[in-house]
Amino acid sequence: MNNAIRAGTVGDQMWGKKSTFVLAAAGSAVGLGNIWRFPYALAENGGSAFLLIYLLCIFGICVPIMMAETLIGRIGRGSPVLAFHNLADRRGKGRPWVGIGFLGVAGSFIIGAFYTVVCGWVLAYTLRSLLPDFPTTEGEVSAFFETVTSYSLGGWDVLEILMHSLFLLLCLGIVYQGVVKGLERYLRPMVPLLVLLLLVGVAYAINIGNTEQALAFMFSPDFSKITGETVLAAVGHAFFSLSLGMGVFITYGAYTPSNLSLGKMVLLVSAIDTTVAVLAGLMVFPLVFAIEGVSASAGPGLVFLTIPFVFTQMPLGDIARFLFFLLLLIAGVTSMVSLIEPAVSALEHYRGMTRHRATAVVIGGLWVFGAACAQWSGLFDAFDYLTTKILLPVGGMLIALFVGWGFSNDLYADQEGVPTGSVRTVWIWTLRVVAPATVAVILVAGLWPSA
Ligand code: TRP
Repeated sequence: MNNAIRAGTVGDQMWGKKSTFVLAAAGSAVGLGNIWRFPYALAENGGSAFLLIYLLCIFGICVPIMMAETLIGRIGRGSPVLAFHNLADRRGKGRPWVGIGFLGVAGSFIIGAFYTVVCGWVLAYTLRSLLPDFPTTEGEVSAFFETVTSYSLGGWDVLEILMHSLFLLLCLGIVYQGVVKGLERYLRPMVPLLVLLLLVGVAYAINIGNTEQALAFMFSPDFSKITGETVLAAVGHAFFSLSLGMGVFITYGAYTPSNLSLGKMVLLVSAIDTTVAVLAGLMVFPLVFAIEGVSASAGPGLVFLTIPFVFTQMPLGDIARFLFFLLLLIAGVTSMVSLIEPAVSALEHYRGMTRHRATAVVIGGLWVFGAACAQWSGLFDAFDYLTTKILLPVGGMLIALFVGWGFSNDLYADQEGVPTGSVRTVWIWTLRVVAPATVAVILVAGLWPSA
């Protein structure tokens, strides 16, 4: 193991502009989870009652953990694996905690493998929206979805694999070029563009859709729907939606100068993520309710079956459909980049690979595992379950424990913008006890739902 590398060569790997952390982290957090899953989860789980619990999870548990995760990167100055190594060296103990770094890198990779497949579907819809004669009836739209996901040649789902490959190529183009020339250059404009497209979408939907019914559907508080399971769903989704527990914030935090206010940055990222999720609902549901007889509870099918059909019935529907999928595509790219970067930076810092080589290795691996997920849906589901239900909460819990119990004041010494006084006390005790205990209960209850 090369000490020169371990000592950290991140000097050339710092965001050039201060605000990039917030933009890149918000780009990671805002993804298919917000636009596709959240509106549906909200409507199904008790409307504003669910929103309340979701907000409690985000600001009570997730924000403190996100601060801890970012701080590990900022002090450890390296990829998830290297950061723990550097911290162990500085503290003179704690080698086994490097395992959390490996867990994060592996977890991001596994999420990436199925995430790229769904992004491939989005790419197929975006490209198809550019061609004339988009399917018009509900039956034709589902036939199109069927083609995208299962068209096969010689037993292989070639179209799905092709789309996932093209999507990965897009991400390759960004990650390959490095932290500043790649990630920073592309993520900075993409995130505001994403927000702009979303606002246009909301304005469009509210103007021509059935907003009243959408608001009632989304927000009517129904506390009877709040059960143990809803709480579990809320916490699980909060972790996924914020990209928490898998080293994204360690990686991006390592590229961030030490003088930015940790609490403010992290609060901003969480607020953006939650706002986008609610706005996505305000875009999707007015459209869905605009047409008699269309069901709002299509679950995963909402974005790929219901919405594309609804657009066929709307004024300017063809353009709106294209912009909608472009929005999803951008959200997908900025999230996927954050699933690739932890492994790339780990190979760079820890194995001493060049960025180009590390990118090729990680994307090559994702291509193989993504194709396998496209081909075998059982693997897709297993990867989804393993990460969302197990690795994310475990990663988050370990990060909380590590920072809560393992950090001493001298580690914070060169860090500005870290909470002090009573805020720090509350933060530390949340990390020590509240967050791990809550996550542990959720984990156990989630794995054994009947218990
Ligand atoms: N947060 C993204 C979404 O909502 C997905 C994502 C990106 C993610 N990076 C992650 C989830 C890391 C967990 C861990 O779609």
